[in-house]
Amino acid sequence: MPEPDYLSGFGSHFATEAVEGALPHGRNSPQRPPFGLYAEQLSGTAFTAPRADNRRSWLYRMRPSAEHPAYRPYRGANLFAPGTSDAPLPPNRLRWNPLAMPETPADFVDGLVTMVANRDPASLEGVAVHVYRANKDMADRYFFDADGELLIIPQQGRLDIATEMGRMALGPGEVALVPRGVRFRVLLPDGEARGYVAENHGALFRLPELGPIGSNGLANPRDFLSPKAAYEDRDGSCELIQKHLGSLWITELDHSPLDVVAWHGNLAPFKYDLRLFNAIGTISFDHPDPSIFTVLTSPSETPGRANADFVIFPPRWMVAEDTFRPPWFHRNVMSECMGLIYGDYDAKAEGFAPGGMSLHNLMAGHGPDVASWKAASEADLEPRKIEGTMAFMVESCWPYRPTRFALDHAQLDYDTAWEGFPKAKLPE
Ligand SMILES: [Fe+2]
Repeated sequence: MPEPDYLSGFGSHFATEAVEGALPHGRNSPQRPPFGLYAEQLSGTAFTAPRADNRRSWLYRMRPSAEHPAYRPYRGANLFAPGTSDAPLPPNRLRWNPLAMPETPADFVDGLVTMVANRDPASLEGVAVHVYRANKDMADRYFFDADGELLIIPQQGRLDIATEMGRMALGPGEVALVPRGVRFRVLLPDGEARGYVAENHGALFRLPELGPIGSNGLANPRDFLSPKAAYEDRDGSCELIQKHLGSLWITELDHSPLDVVAWHGNLAPFKYDLRLFNAIGTISFDHPDPSIFTVLTSPSETPGRANADFVIFPPRWMVAEDTFRPPWFHRNVMSECMGLIYGDYDAKAEGFAPGGMSLHNLMAGHGPDVASWKAASEADLEPRKIEGTMAFMVESCWPYRPTRFALDHAQLDYDTAWEGFPKAKLPE
């Protein structure tokens, strides 16, 4: 398929039509929209959210999305959103090897595995991190998530994501966001794909403030690409699955729900190439907290305390003098879920493979393993470039709870990464 067309900007007010004349001008909901289309507002924030935070779009579609039969429970995808255990949560650090591809055909929805989650989606707070492994196109199936926006992070294989608001094509090194409620289906140009999904139940992801950094840097708004309007004029039986308050539900439609012919507004899917991130770091000594690598942030109601931060560890120059250059040892009040898209992560010598995950929750002591600590302590601090790697972290103020599946599939020996440090020698 050809590369889709995109609109550039973050949270910009876009206007796009797939058929000339489909977009009304001057009125959002005229008495008779062009061609008999139906006008529908899709809200991402409360009507009365402050103007700078307010996100909504107007969709002009062939049939109202209200036209559907009742939903009933969906019995597939039994590792997706199973709920997390209420048992006392062990305070142990956890790490996982990459999950294998499904043994039977599974599309993007059926191949989703929830690994960790926090809060209840009904509280409109918190974040869950899932892994997807898919080897089948969503041919006549569509999905939307009423519980949150989905940040899709490919690790292996390209994805072609057809949404109500247009098509996005992406591969490892890029991420895509599908807003809460937006219907989509995922096709697999390479036949199979694996990656991660951060499901944000809280305030919408936005670009972090830049403070003293100034008006440029980190992820620049023009590098976010939203799709141009594109629609499917398809009659015939389709399944529509939704995640709602932590459960999966299904209904059947007699047409594709991707029938939006034109739209305008500032609530839209987007994709972003992580390789365009402008990484900023020290040019003297020490290094800044990893918040300097924040791509997107979902604030909580407490200033400075993120419901979820999406942070990356991209290729970058290391030039600090008299400095331990990898991440130092730390214990944090924030909880960290990490994944690796490709390459090596500089705080771990082995055991953290592309497609794998780790969890360092509330106050868990962690940092470099012995091999990484030794190498960094003895390193000649010449300028050096970390290349060919892309790790990420979904950091949250809410401690994560792993699912039963995640607890049962964690590495058994992760604690040994921090075994064998020599004791400091004090003067006699
Ligand atoms: Fe950490």
